[in-house]
Amino acid sequence: MEGGVKESHVIRPINKNVVHRICAGQVILDLSSAVKELVENSLDAGATSIEIALKEYGLESFQVIDNGSGISPQNFNVLALKHHTSKLLDFPDLQSLTTFGFRGEALSSLCALGDLTVETRTINEVVATHLTYDRTGLLTAERKTARQVGTTVTVKKLFSNLPVRSKEFRRNIRKEYGKLISLLNAYALIAKGVRLVCTNTAGKNVRSVVLKTQGSGSLQDNIITVFGTSTFSCLEPVTLSISDGCVVEGFISKSGYGSGRNIGDRQFFFVNGRPVDMPKVGKLVNELYRGANSRQYPIAIMSFSVPTRAYDVNVTPDKRKIFFSDESSILQSLREALEKIYSSNQASYLVNRIDEHSDDKLASNIYPQHERSQSPSKHLLPDNVPVHEEGDDGLCADVGTTPKQLRKK
Ligand SMILES: Nc1ncnc2c1ncn2[C@@H]1O[C@H](COP(=O)(O)OP(=O)(O)OP(=O)(O)O)[C@@H](O)[C@H]1O
Ligand SMILES: [Mg+2]
Repeated sequence: MEGGVKESHVIRPINKNVVHRICAGQVILDLSSAVKELVENSLDAGATSIEIALKEYGLESFQVIDNGSGISPQNFNVLALKHHTSKLLDFPDLQSLTTFGFRGEALSSLCALGDLTVETRTINEVVATHLTYDRTGLLTAERKTARQVGTTVTVKKLFSNLPVRSKEFRRNIRKEYGKLISLLNAYALIAKGVRLVCTNTAGKNVRSVVLKTQGSGSLQDNIITVFGTSTFSCLEPVTLSISDGCVVEGFISKSGYGSGRNIGDRQFFFVNGRPVDMPKVGKLVNELYRGANSRQYPIAIMSFSVPTRAYDVNVTPDKRKIFFSDESSILQSLREALEKIYSSNQASYLVNRIDEHSDDKLASNIYPQHERSQSPSKHLLPDNVPVHEEGDDGLCADVGTTPKQLRKK
C-alpha cells in the first residue's frame, strides 16, 4: 500500500498513549455511552440521588452529581488510570459480579476523549477535593472545595481531539441527545429508591428539567413516573419463573389497537438491573404482539433476574450485550408466557369490541387525559427526542395518533 505503513515488515508495539486513545473510542461510543458510564459509577457507589446536568445537550459539557460513597484520597492518583478498579480483582470475580463496572476503563477512556474533572468527598473527610486529570488519566491538579459527601464528575468537550467523531457529534446532537434521554429513562425505570434528575442548559435559556423521578421502590411506580398513569393502564403484568433461578418481572402492552405504539421506542430490557440490548427477546415480543395488535408495536419493560454465573456481560466494550448460558429455554418460557397473556387478552378484547359499537364516546373513555406525573415541556427538547412528547399524553399510541383518528379505524 503506497503512502501507508513505511516499514511494513517490522512489527512494533504501538505507543501506549496511542493504544489508549484507540481503545477509548470503543468504550465511549457516543454521548449516551459516556453518560451511562458515569451514572453506573454513581449507582455502584450506592447513590440514592443522581443528577445529570447537560450544557448544550451535552455538546459543551455533561456532569453527573451523586450522593454516593465518594472517593477516598488514597485513590485520587489512580482513579483515572486504565484498568484501575475497586470492583474486580481476579478473573473469577467476573462470575459473581453485582456491580455495573468491572474493567476500570470508563474514567480513563473519558479522560482520553474530553476534559475530565472530579469533585469528591467521603464521610471521612471534612472537605471535598477538586481533581483535574490529563488526557492520559494522570492527576494534574488538586484543591480543596466545599461539597456534601458524594462525587461530581464533569466532562467538557467530549471528542474534541477526534476530529471526525467531533464533527459527527455536533451534526447528530439531536439524535444523540434523544438516545441519551431514552437511556436515562431505562435507568429511571429500573433503579429502585434512586432519585434521578436530568437538566439541560441551552443558549441563554435557564436550566430546564428534562427528566425527574422520585426514587420510588417498584417497577410499577417507576413506569408511572416515567410514562404516566394512562400508559401504565395499557400494560399487562408479566411474571414468570424460568429454570436455573431465572425470574422475569415486567409489563407489556395489552392487546388491541391503541394499547401499543406506532414505533417500537418503548421497549426496555434489563438483566439484574442492567439495561441491555436483547434483540432476540425484542423480536419475540414484537412477533407475538402482532397476533394481538397487528398494526402497532408493544411497550415492553422486562426485568430478568438471573444468577450471575448464568450469563456473561463481558461481551462488548459498552456492556450492552449479554450472553446467556441457556438462552433457548429463556426464550421458550417467555414465548409460552406471552402466548398465554395474548390468548386470554384476545378473548376479552373481542368482547370489548362488541361493546364499543354501542358507545359513541369510545375514544375518550379508553383514553382519558390523565395527568402525567412528570412532563417536561416539548419546546425544551430537540426535534426527535423519542420520549415525553406532549402529544402522547394520555395515549399509549404515538404522537399524532389522536383519539379521532382511532375512532375512524
Ligand atoms: N461516582 C463515583 N463514586 C465513587 N467512586 C467512583 C465513582 N466513579 C468512579 N469511582 C471509582 O473509580 C473507579 C474507576 O471507575 P471506572 O468507571 O473507570 O471503572 P469501573 O467502574 O471500576 O469499571 P468500568 O470501566 O467497567 O466502568 C471505580 O472502580 C470506583 O472505585
Ligand atoms: Mg465504571
